[in-house]
Amino acid sequence: MAVVTFVSHDGEKHEAPLEEGCSLMQVAKNNAIPGIDGDCGGEAACGTCHVIVDPAWADKVGPSGPVEEEMLSMNPERQATSRLSCQIKASESWDGLTVQLPEFQM
Ligand code: FES
Repeated sequence: MAVVTFVSHDGEKHEAPLEEGCSLMQVAKNNAIPGIDGDCGGEAACGTCHVIVDPAWADKVGPSGPVEEEMLSMNPERQATSRLSCQIKASESWDGLTVQLPEFQM
């Protein structure tokens, strides 16, 4: 089973099984990962699913799209590998993927 690790700002790790085709936000919600609210239901309109992808995984996960980019550009906690997890379609080939949660998303 492929696993993704969500790391909170204070270093606490939470693992969840990667479900092919599911968004990473949905994976987090399905597994009660703290800090991923997904308030807009995955429409790239709320920013409460912000994650910072481990730089080693950034190429595999891919870049943000234009709508996502607009939302991220308003986020003061944005970093170089920031993504909205609702816009990331999980792949079971990503076993070991690690994403960090920003400080103010707990
Ligand atoms: S769930 Fe709202 S932007 Fe991702």
